[in-house]
Amino acid sequence: MARIIAVANQKGGVGKTTTAINLAASFAVSGVETLLVDCDPQSNASSGLGLVKDPERLSTYHLLMREATGEQALQKTALAKLTIIPAHKNLIGANIELVDAEDRAFRLKEALTPLRERFQVIVLDCPPALDLLTLNALVASDGVLVPMQAEYFALEGISELLDSIERVRVSLNPQLGIEGVVLTMFDDRTNLAQQVTAELKKYFGEKLCQTTIPRNVRLAEAPSHGKPALLYDERSKGAESYMQLAQEILQRSLPELIAAPQEEKQAVNEGGRWRRWKERNTLTTINISGKQ
Ligand SMILES: Nc1ncnc2c1ncn2[C@@H]1O[C@H](COP(=O)(O)OP(=O)(O)OP(=O)(O)O)[C@@H](O)[C@H]1O
Ligand SMILES: [Mg+2]
Repeated sequence: MARIIAVANQKGGVGKTTTAINLAASFAVSGVETLLVDCDPQSNASSGLGLVKDPERLSTYHLLMREATGEQALQKTALAKLTIIPAHKNLIGANIELVDAEDRAFRLKEALTPLRERFQVIVLDCPPALDLLTLNALVASDGVLVPMQAEYFALEGISELLDSIERVRVSLNPQLGIEGVVLTMFDDRTNLAQQVTAELKKYFGEKLCQTTIPRNVRLAEAPSHGKPALLYDERSKGAESYMQLAQEILQRSLPELIAAPQEEKQAVNEGGRWRRWKERNTLTTINISGKQ
C-alpha cells in the first residue's frame, strides 16, 4: 500500500513544487514505484516534468469531479518508475464547483485509493493556499512534508498550517502526521540561517529533516527543460540533496523499501543513477571521516 505524502505550505514560492518533482524523481531512481499528483491549478509540477499544456488531458480536476478514474489520468514520464497525474488550470474552479458537495473533502482520497496497490509512494504537490484542494490532499495523505525557507518570518503562518493539519487529523483523517519539515533554498553560511535553523529545531525536534536543500541554480533551470534535476544535471548539488532527502524519508517511514540488496537495486534503478549516487555518497563519507 502506497504511502501518500502531501507537500504543503500555504506560503507561496517556498519550494513545494521543486520538492515534489525532485523528491518523486529521487524515489523513482531509488527503485520505488512513485506517483506524483499535481494538485495545483498553476500546473507547475506537470510542466516541470515536461508535460505540454493540453486542454483535453485528464487531470486532477476530472478526478475531483468524478469524471475520470485515477487509472485513466495516469501519464508516463521520462523515468520508468515515475508516473504523474497532471493538473489543469480549470482545477481552480473545483473549489467553487464542489462547495455544496457533502463529501467534497474526500474526492481525492476516493480517487487515489485504488492506486495505492500499484504504487509504493504517492507525492501530492499542493497549491499555496489552505483551500479545498489542499484539504483534499491532507485528507488523502499519511504525512505532510513542509518545505520552508530559513528566514526570519519562517514560522509566521506555520501555526495556521499546523492548526489545519491538526483539525484534519481530529475530524477527517486520524492517520495524518507530519512527515517532516525541510529547509529549502538554504545557505548555511549566513548567521541568520543558522539561528533560524536552531529555532526550528527547538520547535519541530526530530521532524526537522537533517537534509537541507541548498539554493542551486540547476534546480531552478531544470523545469524549463521539462526535467527533474537528476536528469538535467545528475551531479548538481540540488539533485544530490533531493536524493539524500529521499533516502532520509525512506529510512524514516518506509525502511522496507531500502532493505533490498545493492544487486537488486542495480537491476531496478533508472539508468544506474541510484548506484552512481550511492558510490559518490560513500566516497563523500570516507572523505569526511578522513579514512581514505
Ligand atoms: N533550492 C532551490 N534553489 C534555487 N531555486 C529554487 C530552489 N527551490 C525552488 N527554487 C525556485 O524558486 C521558485 C519557487 O519554487 P517553487 O515553484 O518550487 O515553489 P512553490 O512553493 O511550489 O511555489 P507556489 O507556492 O507558487 O506553488 C521557482 O522559481 C524555483 O525554480
Ligand atoms: Mg508550486
